[in-house]
Amino acid sequence: MKYRPVGTSGVKVSEIGFGCWTMGGPNWSALTGAPIGWADVNDADILAGIKAGLDAGVNHWDNADIYGNGRAERTLAQSLGTLGVSRQTQVIATKVGHFRGTAPYGYEPAHIRNQCEQSLRNLRTDYIDIYYFHHGTYVGPGYDGQAHDYLHEAAGVMHDLVKEGKVRAVGQSAYSIEDFERAVPVLRPHVLQNKANLRYDEFIAPGSPLRRLMREHGCTFVAFGPLDQGILLDKFDPDNPPAFLEGDYRGNRKDFTPEILRTVRGLLAKARERLGSAATPGTPEDTAFLSSMASRWVLAHENVCSVIPGFRNERQARCNVRAAVDAPMSEADRAWLGGLFGGVR
Ligand SMILES: NC(=O)c1ccc[n+]([C@@H]2O[C@H](COP(=O)([O-])OP(=O)(O)OC[C@H]3O[C@@H](n4cnc5c(N)ncnc54)[C@H](OP(=O)(O)O)[C@@H]3O)[C@@H](O)[C@H]2O)c1
Repeated sequence: MKYRPVGTSGVKVSEIGFGCWTMGGPNWSALTGAPIGWADVNDADILAGIKAGLDAGVNHWDNADIYGNGRAERTLAQSLGTLGVSRQTQVIATKVGHFRGTAPYGYEPAHIRNQCEQSLRNLRTDYIDIYYFHHGTYVGPGYDGQAHDYLHEAAGVMHDLVKEGKVRAVGQSAYSIEDFERAVPVLRPHVLQNKANLRYDEFIAPGSPLRRLMREHGCTFVAFGPLDQGILLDKFDPDNPPAFLEGDYRGNRKDFTPEILRTVRGLLAKARERLGSAATPGTPEDTAFLSSMASRWVLAHENVCSVIPGFRNERQARCNVRAAVDAPMSEADRAWLGGLFGGVR
């Protein structure tokens, strides 16, 4: 495993980090009632997956207050405790912003402080290595019900938490270039987070305005979704698309259609050929090959410090660390794969 810097913070994360969203199990949006979690989660399987990650050198765990409304943070802490892992050896990231509790908005300053204290209790620690603002929409309702811009106040609270030793590195997760461009000069984060994979490269592609922004502010990038929730592993049958269990967030995603799954399958066949895979499609060896290819492709981009695939069990965890032992992707393969998948949605 290799480790890369989180901006100028001094924190270093494993190139393969593990996303903790699935650990939270199912939960539902307080605003819309839509599922925002994962069904059928088994704590013993998660423990075995965490152990497999640690054995491979994973030190980066990406969590959030809203994943299972605190369950994912507690499960991570419980698991690391059970495995006897020393806190100082691990980089624990968590986020605030989507979970509002009884506050008028997730970025209300006192609420950020409350959530930080709750995350510290859930994680059984007295500091968070990377604390993210989870989204880039800083305008929301105030106590008077009127629209209020929380950006400067929220940034102020975050920097106070750093001064108090409760946060080591500051992160901004957001879903559009515009949101990043507004937040970054005010918050001055060390690291940005968003989705990046063979199908979505808006934030990491050469020429992306986000790359310029990151260079200007000395930020690095954590990429979620490197495997696109299994789509890039060719695990779903286009003729029989998956029907997810009640409570699985993917039931609301529009990407699991026969057309998309068929298109991706065709592109993955070409990618296997170019990269010389000898594995038979559909076998565990093939899944590991595709997982490694997808993660190494993202890691071959400037500024990316870590990819954070999720996992349910030991098998998936072992598969997803394969990228750490394979040789880094060449620039020629990175560019070729980018061209192959470019714009495929
Ligand atoms: N900042 C943000 O707003 C944000 C948003 C999304 C995610 N994240 C972070 O990014 C992490 C990753 O999220 P993600 O969107 O990429 O989803 P994900 O957590 O990677 O998706 C997990 C699902 O992918 C499948 N999977 C993963 N590895 C597999 C393998 N080796 N073989 C077969 N299936 C495999 C499993 O599906 P099955 O259930 O079918 O087995 C698993 O349930 C999250 O845990 C979270 O920490 C952050």
